[in-house]
Amino acid sequence: MTPVTEAAPALKFSERINRIEPSATLAVTAEADKLRQQGIDVVDFGAGEPHFATPQHIKDAGIAAIQGNFTKYTAVGGTAELRDAIVHRHAVDFDSDYRREEAVASVGGKHALFNAIQILVEHGDEVILPVPYWVSFKDIVRYAGGNCVLLATDESQNFRLTAAMVTRLITPRTKLIILNSPSNPSGAVMSREDMTEVMRLAHERGIWVISDECYVYLNYTERRFSVGSLREFREHMVIVGSLSKTYAMTGWRLGYALAPAALISAMQKLQSQSTSNPTSIVQKAAVAALKGPQQCVTDMRAEYIRLRDHVVNGLRSIPGVQCTLPEGAFYAYPNISAFFGRGGVNSAADLAGKLLREAHVATVPGEGFGTTDHIRISYATSLAELDRGISRMRSFLGSL
Ligand SMILES: Cc1ncc(COP(=O)(O)O)c(C=O)c1O
Repeated sequence: MTPVTEAAPALKFSERINRIEPSATLAVTAEADKLRQQGIDVVDFGAGEPHFATPQHIKDAGIAAIQGNFTKYTAVGGTAELRDAIVHRHAVDFDSDYRREEAVASVGGKHALFNAIQILVEHGDEVILPVPYWVSFKDIVRYAGGNCVLLATDESQNFRLTAAMVTRLITPRTKLIILNSPSNPSGAVMSREDMTEVMRLAHERGIWVISDECYVYLNYTERRFSVGSLREFREHMVIVGSLSKTYAMTGWRLGYALAPAALISAMQKLQSQSTSNPTSIVQKAAVAALKGPQQCVTDMRAEYIRLRDHVVNGLRSIPGVQCTLPEGAFYAYPNISAFFGRGGVNSAADLAGKLLREAHVATVPGEGFGTTDHIRISYATSLAELDRGISRMRSFLGSL
């Protein structure tokens, strides 16, 4: 007779994995997909990605790489050609003077951020994080064991972050400050003066700064700026960049970091034990993007400005909705708190949920970005789609 065995105890995962949550933006995408599969026509303002196709010359370079059998492993941190192209782009556009040894290519900007934060942050370290923040910053810091010190910004000041606000939160345990200008989700752009001041004070106190510049080319002011031009403060500076938004390449997964050579070397060590190199053929496409004509970037930026103006005007015309003017990225972050207490809506999550299920418009509730009164609207879509979504929102909110 087979002996009776006891059931295995319930699966116990690491304490580490329980510190984090799935990305709020990806959760919305999944729910919208489910509705679509039921045949429902959803207007999608949830996805954080360009609606443009990847420019042809970049696609051609990827195809040529496949045809030319550039399909083997490469150096973990990317080919020398790609790392040089990253350095070149930043030197030309932002007057930085990085060397190849100070650049690493990763599987998206998120991967570069993840690696840098795992290396810089120890258990109990404090990380200053401006609110509203991009969803992943908080979870990546938590996964590393760090404590996020949240820095509230003021909506009436366009969510602007100043150096004085950062200074107030610095303690002896501060290890890292995260900047993200232009910001996802608010579109706020920091001034050159404030960024310089944050870099100066971090430099003086030996605090690291990660400047997430994934939207640096989608800055709609005349003040496009990268901290990379502040060469004198580079010792504790990490620039994270990505081809995802700049060149409409989200699915290709190519991001990078520029930082002191010792940190880049540690990031390569970590990467060597997880993903190894970013996909070889994508690296060839990335070189074409970074070294080829930049007119596509200029053209997409001009279109985003048109879309931004259109969506902000549309949102502001809905009674009860307030909306700041985003100065970069491709998100509007309207305040919808006027609807709380009406029709069973008591939070941004309630509102976004009803908006999706009842009006079939996908947005992301502000809770995922650390604020309670907003929803995020991605306007990287066509003017016609913006009109359809705004009109559905107007009827739905009017009925509450
Ligand atoms: C602020 C910010 N940083 C980084 C990323 C990561 O982009 P990717 O991993 O596609 O390069 C995103 C993507 O939404 C973002 O919004």
